[in-house]
Amino acid sequence: MHFKVSPSKVDDANITVPGDKSVSHRALMLGSIAEGRTAVSGFLAGEDCLATMAAMRQLGVDIQQASATEVSIEGVGLRGLRQADGPLDLGNSGTAMRLMAGLLAAQHFDSTLVGDESLTSRPMERVIKPLTQMGAAIDSDCDGTPPLQIAGGLRLHRIDYEMPVASAQVKSAVLLAGLYADGVTSVTEPNVTRDHTERMLRSMGAEVMVDGNRISINGGQHLRGCHVQVPADLSSASFVILAALLADNADILITNVGVNPTRTGVIDILQSMGGDICLENARLLGEEPVADIRIRSSKLLGGAVAPELVSLAIDEFPVLFVAAAAATGKTVFSGIGELRVKESDRIAAMADGMRKLGIRVDESPDGAVVHGGRVEGGAVDSFGDHRVAMSLAVAGTVAVGDVVVRNVDAVDTSFPGFTSCMASIGAYIQVVEDVSE
Ligand code: S3P
Repeated sequence: MHFKVSPSKVDDANITVPGDKSVSHRALMLGSIAEGRTAVSGFLAGEDCLATMAAMRQLGVDIQQASATEVSIEGVGLRGLRQADGPLDLGNSGTAMRLMAGLLAAQHFDSTLVGDESLTSRPMERVIKPLTQMGAAIDSDCDGTPPLQIAGGLRLHRIDYEMPVASAQVKSAVLLAGLYADGVTSVTEPNVTRDHTERMLRSMGAEVMVDGNRISINGGQHLRGCHVQVPADLSSASFVILAALLADNADILITNVGVNPTRTGVIDILQSMGGDICLENARLLGEEPVADIRIRSSKLLGGAVAPELVSLAIDEFPVLFVAAAAATGKTVFSGIGELRVKESDRIAAMADGMRKLGIRVDESPDGAVVHGGRVEGGAVDSFGDHRVAMSLAVAGTVAVGDVVVRNVDAVDTSFPGFTSCMASIGAYIQVVEDVSE
C-alpha cells in the first residue's frame, strides 16, 4: 500500500489519537506477571502491541479483548508463565523483543524470540550484555541480532549496570529481570529516558527507587493487578501537531494525550522553533500525566536542537525533520545516532525523503543539518518504517504538489486509523494500491 497525499487545508478540529504504544506493551507484560486481574482501557490495538498480546497468550496468560481498546488480563504471578508451544513472533517491535528478553531470561523454561525483517536486523547485544551479566544465557545471530534463544532455569543475580546508550528498552529489560533477581538491581542511564515501566511497576505495588539517573528495584516483589488507563500516544499526536503548525490557520485540540515529561521533548523542540503549542487541563491518569494539547498554526524557525532533548523526543525525529524542512533557516540535529538503529535508519530514510522533495539535508554519522525551503511534490519511500511513512505524509500536506509515499503498510504497527484521523483535520491522504492511480 502507498499514500497519495495532496496539498491540504488543515482546519480547526477537536480530535483524539490512539493509545500509547509503550504503555500498552507494558500493561500486557506487567499485567501478565501480576497477581489478579489487570483491566486496560485505551489500549493501542496496533500490530506491535497485538504481537505482544499474542506472545503473552502463548506463555499461558488468559487475555480477553472486549473491544479494540478494552483488554482484561488474568495475571499469573511472577512464576506462573509457562513455556510457549513455539517461537514468539514479535513482528516489527523492538520494544516487545527487548522487554520480553528481560522477562523471559528469568523463567524456568526456554524461549525463542523472532521478528520480521526489520526487527531481525536490530541490535540485541544491548540487552544480551546486561542480562548475561545477571546470569542469563541468551544466544543470538553472530552479529547480535535476532532470533534470540533464551535459556530457562537459571538463577539471576543483581547487577549495577551503567547503560552505554540511553535506552528505555534496555533499562526496562534489566528492571524486569531485576524483579526476579536476588538483591537490588540498579541501572544508570546516561540521559533520562521514558519511565513508563517504573510508573507502572509502582501502580502495581512495587517499590522502584530513583536517585538521579540511577533506577533500582528489589527482586522478589509481587505485583498486584490494577486498572491501567492508557493515555493517547504523544508520538502519534506529533503528526497531527506538526500538520496543524504548518497549516495556514488551524486551531486543533488533541485530547487526553500522555505528557509524561520523559516524552515531551517534541513539544519543547517545536516550541523553541516558534510553534504555538499549549497544554490545557493537565491531570494524572493513574501514574501518567496527561493533558489536552492545543496547537495553532505558526511560522517555524530553524535552530540547533539541544542534545539533552534527544532521548526525550527519540521517536519524533522523523517528524522533526519535516518541521525543519518547512522552517525558515537551517536546523541542526546532533547526537541522534540512535536513529540509525530504529525500525529503519531514520537519518538516511528522512534525508532521502526530504531530498526527493527538494530539501537540502547534510548528513553526518550521528546528525543532520536540514535546510528549510519549499517542499516540492514527488515520490518518496518509507523504507518500511511507520514513523517515516507518517512524517512524509505530513510533508505532503504542505508540499506544492502531490506526494506519493511508497510502502506504508507498517503504519498499522503504531497508528491504526492514521488516514482517517488526518482526514478529520482536513489532510488529504489516500491509500492506494497502485501509485499510478
Ligand atoms: C520505547 C523506547 C524507545 C523508543 C521505542 C519505544 C519503549 O527505544 O524508540 O519506540 O517503549 O521503551 P529506546 O529506549 O531503545 O531508545
